[in-house]
Amino acid sequence: MRQHFRKTPVDVFGHLHVIGKAVKNGVLLTTQWNDRANSMTISWGQVGIEWNRPIFTVYVRGSRYTHEMLLHNGEFTINISPERNVKRILDFCGTRSGRDTDKISELGLTLVEGEKVSVPGIAELPITLECRVIYRQMQDWEAIPDYILEKFYPSLLSGNSPLPVRDIHTMFYGEVVDAYVIESEE
Ligand SMILES: Cc1cc2nc3c(=O)[nH]c(=O)nc-3n(C[C@H](O)[C@H](O)[C@H](O)COP(=O)(O)O)c2cc1C
Repeated sequence: MRQHFRKTPVDVFGHLHVIGKAVKNGVLLTTQWNDRANSMTISWGQVGIEWNRPIFTVYVRGSRYTHEMLLHNGEFTINISPERNVKRILDFCGTRSGRDTDKISELGLTLVEGEKVSVPGIAELPITLECRVIYRQMQDWEAIPDYILEKFYPSLLSGNSPLPVRDIHTMFYGEVVDAYVIESEE
């Protein structure tokens, strides 16, 4: 039987504390390309403002499949659970790559079509921010202090990485074009 969902609007700036706390524990960043959705766990990111627009900024290493997907389709959703009951999902999506695993179907997650973007939300992580990439920039490792490089990019310092660019994070600015909570109508 097809499930029906209701979407209740969320005021993003009225819920910064909920969003900020969730990001620290981990949320999903979902992308879609070639008719397949893929979610990866992130715990870096924030809501902010530039050019008078609400923006969710994410930081994605060049090696992630999500990075490739975002270059093909510059839309994403952020999927947040208000409860701390999604550890299994966050662990799985934070350790497997969409390159070789269909994480959504392996976890049996319920996709819910987006309103303004081509990427779905996820019923199990119901707070949904729909985002459209309006800017991206690879971070400049020469502008990063050594103690951060040592911790997060050791291969850059050792010169051992054949493709150091894959280590560096690209920041993607996603303009928040819709925000809501997905609730089941049953
Ligand atoms: C708690 C947690 C937080 C993470 N945060 C980030 C992040 O902010 N940026 C990033 O590039 N990778 C982050 N990762 C790693 C990716 O989730 C992981 O490499 C994932 O397998 C990438 O999936 P993909 O290849 O399908 O894109 C995090 C992993 C965990 C477990």
